Amino acid sequence: MAPPTEVLVQTSAETNPHVPKRTTVKALVESDGLTSIPSNYSYATHPNESDASDPNDTIPTIDFSLLNSGDPHQRSKVIQDIDKACQEWGFFMLVNHGVPETLMKAVLDGCNEFFNLPMEEKMEFATKDVWKPIRFGTGVDIKVEKFFCWRDFIKVIAHPEFHCPSKPQGLSEVVQEYCKRSQEVTMELLKAISESLGFEESYIEKAMNLKSGLQLFAANLYPPCPQPELAMGIPAHTDHGLLTLLIENGIGGLQIQHNGNWFHVNPLPNSFLVNTADHLEILSNGRYKSIMHRAVVNSQSTRISIAIPNGPSLDTMVSPAPELVDNESSPAAYVPMTYKDYMDLQLEGKPCLERVRLPIA
Ligand code: OGA
Ligand code: NI
Repeated sequence: MAPPTEVLVQTSAETNPHVPKRTTVKALVESDGLTSIPSNYSYATHPNESDASDPNDTIPTIDFSLLNSGDPHQRSKVIQDIDKACQEWGFFMLVNHGVPETLMKAVLDGCNEFFNLPMEEKMEFATKDVWKPIRFGTGVDIKVEKFFCWRDFIKVIAHPEFHCPSKPQGLSEVVQEYCKRSQEVTMELLKAISESLGFEESYIEKAMNLKSGLQLFAANLYPPCPQPELAMGIPAHTDHGLLTLLIENGIGGLQIQHNGNWFHVNPLPNSFLVNTADHLEILSNGRYKSIMHRAVVNSQSTRISIAIPNGPSLDTMVSPAPELVDNESSPAAYVPMTYKDYMDLQLEGKPCLERVRLPIA
């Protein structure tokens, strides 16, 4: 196959003839004879990082069906379990959520087909403007990347207005149905989380204006990498929004920070991987921490993951819930900010949770 010629992202490489032009990771991998990664994809490992997690640790699993089984004791037990999972892990696996396995598979297959479209059809959506409702790209969404990530993506805004590429045929219908179903699951979880924080069940929905909440659909492609130990799919980050629901095609690669170590997640088949995100940390005044996570790559298989971040409406001013703030015992630990301003800040590439967190948190 011919080496990639299409330039996806304009970098300083454009002005420097000695720096190779940047294309997608997929095109790079499909070019002839790639046995090592180009140096600008090399991730500097940090000597203190350890992925030796405690073998006795098990990721919390939540049975979604027990929330609405009609048995109030069972519901309050699950709400307690969610509270514990959000406090101790910021992460849980959700089973028996009712979203059909066939739909999850169809959406993963549909995204794979999208990535397999000819380059020029995908290029139609290549943009540096992160507020465009459909975006195809590579790397991560910050203005200055320290190194190139081993990842291509397609991201769409799914709510309050739904957007999706019209090709491949049928993708839009599948993505729309999947987004609708995962939003229903998220709404139920946020009812339970409202209760676990001591509120009535519609508290978060009202306070965060979820009727016009921002829902994104992000499909990540991690092609096989000849030197996976040197590359990184997505470096350590927290997600904006309230909750992220993630599925993947059974390959594995998600790692979460737990007790100072990187914990490798082996998802149960057909489960949702749910993580608490920045705006839940802010709203809960730090009771639930937004979990640091990253995606590592492998040399054998193409991994696809689909992340659905669900957040407030963009104009919602997010601050710690006043009921959880007490000037003496638990003062507000975060500065109020609209979700839109927060997202813009994140694109600067600085960990913005740290910028809204006050020194007392
Ligand atoms: C993300 C993300 C992890 C993964 O898209 O924000 O963290 O396993 N993805 O792909
Ligand atoms: Ni993430």
